[in-house]
Amino acid sequence: MLDWAERHRRDLPWRSSRDPWAVLVSEVMLQQTQVARVVPRWHAFLQRWPDTSSCAAASPGDVVAEWQGLGYPRRARNLHRCASTIEHEHGGRFPDELGALLALDGVGPYTARAVLAFAFEHDAAVVDTNVGRVVARRAGVRLTPSAAQRAADEWLPAGRSWEWNQALLDLGAGVCRPKEPDCGGCPVRRECVWAAAGCTEPDPAVRSAGVSRPQAPYQGSRRQARGRLLAAAGAGAVDPTAHDPEIVHSLLEDDLVELDECGRVRLVGRISPPGSPAPGG
Ligand code: ADE
Repeated sequence: MLDWAERHRRDLPWRSSRDPWAVLVSEVMLQQTQVARVVPRWHAFLQRWPDTSSCAAASPGDVVAEWQGLGYPRRARNLHRCASTIEHEHGGRFPDELGALLALDGVGPYTARAVLAFAFEHDAAVVDTNVGRVVARRAGVRLTPSAAQRAADEWLPAGRSWEWNQALLDLGAGVCRPKEPDCGGCPVRRECVWAAAGCTEPDPAVRSAGVSRPQAPYQGSRRQARGRLLAAAGAGAVDPTAHDPEIVHSLLEDDLVELDECGRVRLVGRISPPGSPAPGG
């Protein structure tokens, strides 16, 4: 696997960094957004907020506005909270321990281990959708999330965490694909129970650990309506009565927007410029 990884490793910009903030930003963006779309946005985000102290000092609404177009904007709100927590509760020192990372907003088992492996090069096995598929097929049985984590932990070669985990992500994305896996090009086919069985149905990866549901269509969705209102609020305070109250409420609940002194919706923590009319006036 490690020889294969040397030859096939994707050249992705965050792989040149061992800075935990840069790694965290990449992993949060990659949670729900494709690699090609993340690359330019990762550079732009880090140019603006190269560290936790600059991000913590920014208005959360500015971080939400920077996120525009990436989708799932709670991720931006959570990143700002992570920066604040690190600045105010960890004295500006990025935590390098699993429990402390898991306590950060929006950081789950995958992301916490990704920071440990990719920034600190600690021995931690990352299990996302792709890796969950690889370990389930290799085991030849469906795995619960905790069983998939254990399988990945046991497989991890000590001291080679960075390369190993990046290799597993590349293997899952490019070779051990959900449909029509390229078993001929797989460096670990000889230890794969499912491949030995001729890749017969049922595929152990289906509905197995980490194999998430595909994203629902965006057109006409609630997610789209939320995105529209957020984009409008990013451009200037908006009259909430012109929008679906449930959508306004959900963005208020998520602390992505707030009402200004005139009752208009603005991005959280932003100063409303004067001039736009108050609701009903
Ligand atoms: N998806 C999540 N993390 C990744 C990484 N470090 N490289 C490529 N794809 C990823």
